[in-house]
Amino acid sequence: MEKKEKFIQSITEGYNSKGDFIIMGSALFDGNPEKKALVKLPLKTLNRHGLIAGATGTGKTVTLQIIAENMCEKGIPVLLMDLKGDLSGIARPGVTNEKITERHNAIGIPFEPKETPVEFLTLSKENGAKLKATVSEFGPVLFSKILDLNETQSGIVAIIFKYADDHQLPLLDLKDFKSLLNHVTGEGKEEIQKTYGNVSKASAGTILRSIIELESQGAEAFFGERSFEVSDLVRLDGHGRGIASILRLTDIQDKPKLFSTFMLCLLAEIYQSFPEAGDLEKPKLCVFIDEAHLIFKEASDALLDQIESIIKLIRSKGVGIYFCTQNPYDIPDAVLSQLGLKVQHALRAFTEKDRKAIKKTAENYPVSEFYKTDQLLTSLGIGQALITALNEKGIPTPLAATHLRAPMSRIGILSPDEIQQIVSASAIAKKYNESIDRESAFEMLSKKLKSLDAEEAVKPKSTKEEKSTIEKLSENTMVRQVGRTVMKEVARGLLGVLGLGGNKKKSSWF
Ligand SMILES: Nc1ncnc2c1ncn2[C@@H]1O[C@H](COP(=O)(O)OP(=O)(O)OP(=O)(O)O)[C@@H](O)[C@H]1O
Ligand SMILES: [Mg+2]
Repeated sequence: MEKKEKFIQSITEGYNSKGDFIIMGSALFDGNPEKKALVKLPLKTLNRHGLIAGATGTGKTVTLQIIAENMCEKGIPVLLMDLKGDLSGIARPGVTNEKITERHNAIGIPFEPKETPVEFLTLSKENGAKLKATVSEFGPVLFSKILDLNETQSGIVAIIFKYADDHQLPLLDLKDFKSLLNHVTGEGKEEIQKTYGNVSKASAGTILRSIIELESQGAEAFFGERSFEVSDLVRLDGHGRGIASILRLTDIQDKPKLFSTFMLCLLAEIYQSFPEAGDLEKPKLCVFIDEAHLIFKEASDALLDQIESIIKLIRSKGVGIYFCTQNPYDIPDAVLSQLGLKVQHALRAFTEKDRKAIKKTAENYPVSEFYKTDQLLTSLGIGQALITALNEKGIPTPLAATHLRAPMSRIGILSPDEIQQIVSASAIAKKYNESIDRESAFEMLSKKLKSLDAEEAVKPKSTKEEKSTIEKLSENTMVRQVGRTVMKEVARGLLGVLGLGGNKKKSSWF
């Protein structure tokens, strides 16, 4: 058989799919796109996570856009972490030009300009539905991890959560937490010591400093009400298209700690609230993280462990996670090994270190009789990439150097007016941005604390068992905070479910 025919056969068989799929482009043979060798991603294995890597300007973000918009087209909602602000264009149809026509002629599929239905979300003051969570929802274990606390300090956090539970004080935002922290080392000191255990002033000081650091990264805007419900991420529009939720994070680039914390919280919440899904025809939700090195850059070891565990477990809930970054080694090995789809754009070989990275990257791709992978890695053009995915049986597809299609939607950003149009038509922006008219938790807390001091209020029973404070307190917390659902409370137990935190044996929250 002629080599070219053999190549076409290997791609068409390797990427054959009985079920529905997404077309990425066509495979390159001797540097030219081969129309008969389409590279397809089966929807069935899209929950097996993915990576989009490559040097700057090689087309990573556009590839992310292509995969995400085609998922939506197939009825899979997506969540896009937009760190550079260049993903909003997905909400408007693309415009053809000579280059795009040429590209699509070469691939052999028509170019259809088309927009994707979009919701804009924000963690800060940007335009969009405000995404928030209460301190209470984080729970003592995760909240302590975020603050990077040691065991003693985490014990104090647990005391504060327990105290708040016992006295029905809503722990909504950081202000609430700080005022309780003050209370347990100040006026409330004696009561706390009798009932819950010792709280050292030095440890409380450390906790306070960590909170201040978190605040300096802008975390205040994030903690509070109304709590975001992850079910709002899995919506379809009237035509059955998945809605793309774009989380605008341009102002979070220099706040890696807040970003990794937030990511973990969100993934944990998704993990917690989605039912076990088994083998689905297509995922329920896919999450894309552009500039993903930012999550891993400053995450503590404890946070990294948890991110790894969640990635391992979340696919059984029908959720796929896609990382987009320059160098594949920006992603920890334990995470890399979980990724089913790999899209590798060109790498640049400026230094010895670059050349080593290229060699290592090439070795991690399936061996191909048609390509010299290391050479290809430095010679791929913009909008071309090496692809290997998982076929429907979960087996890696042959390596395909792919001439990618263009996105159906606009490459580039929306104007502020265009964004405003979308936000003002959004139902969830209304839901999350209306200010909640209830007594400020902080005020309620101070009032309550005053009356507690006066009356020496109800004191919960203490136990004398020889357990660490955090274990002791984790065991019997039945939360009665005001105004939140039981589901949300259970989310606290996530770290237990994952076998994380201090208590590895089993969750103490269920
Ligand atoms: N598949 C494609 N079809 C058409 N044009 C493309 C495609 N991929 C990339 N391009 C062109 O290349 C430009 C750069 O792509 P992109 O912004 O995706 O690069 P990047 O790898 O994300 O860069 P950075 O690392 O700087 O974020 C795009 O603005 C677009 O003009
Ligand atoms: Mg980019």
